[in-house]
Amino acid sequence: MKNILIVYHSQTGNTEAMAKAVADGATKAGATVALKKAPDAGIDDLMGCDAVIFGTPNNFSYMAGMVKDFFDRVWFTVREKMQDKPYAVFGSYGGGGMPAIESVEKICEGLKMKKVLDSIGIQRTPTDENLKACRELGEKLAKL
Ligand SMILES: Cc1cc2nc3c(=O)[nH]c(=O)nc-3n(C[C@H](O)[C@H](O)[C@H](O)COP(=O)(O)O)c2cc1C
Repeated sequence: MKNILIVYHSQTGNTEAMAKAVADGATKAGATVALKKAPDAGIDDLMGCDAVIFGTPNNFSYMAGMVKDFFDRVWFTVREKMQDKPYAVFGSYGGGGMPAIESVEKICEGLKMKKVLDSIGIQRTPTDENLKACRELGEKLAKL
């Protein structure tokens, strides 16, 4: 994938550390990466990329409000234009597992996007091992 968009939200830095590691892996594998906080991303970013990686913390067993707001803003314009666009999801949670990631996947299914790699959910602050997995996620997506 040549142009990869990473859209994420992070309140306390955990998901942001993951996002930067994903971006690092994808960049080192030769992709052009747009790393965007959800409020700064929009329709043109989504339409213009070859693949998307979404990052979100688990907030109240759902994606972060900022990520939901991103989908709310782009939905009507992009909903017929995302079919088969490759995507992956990563995120951080406190103790409640992966429902935030699943909520993103559900919307991507609605957009008929194509999940091409397993999602990565980690608990709280990512370890070096977690960040390595994030770099590999970016690298794998770049090489698809
Ligand atoms: C408003 C709010 C709601 C949260 N709700 C949940 C939750 O329902 N389940 C859970 O596992 N963690 C929950 N957490 C914890 C965060 O998912 C966790 O601290 C995560 O590592 C934060 O990632 P961030 O640093 O990228 O913001 C919540 C945190 C906040 C601030």
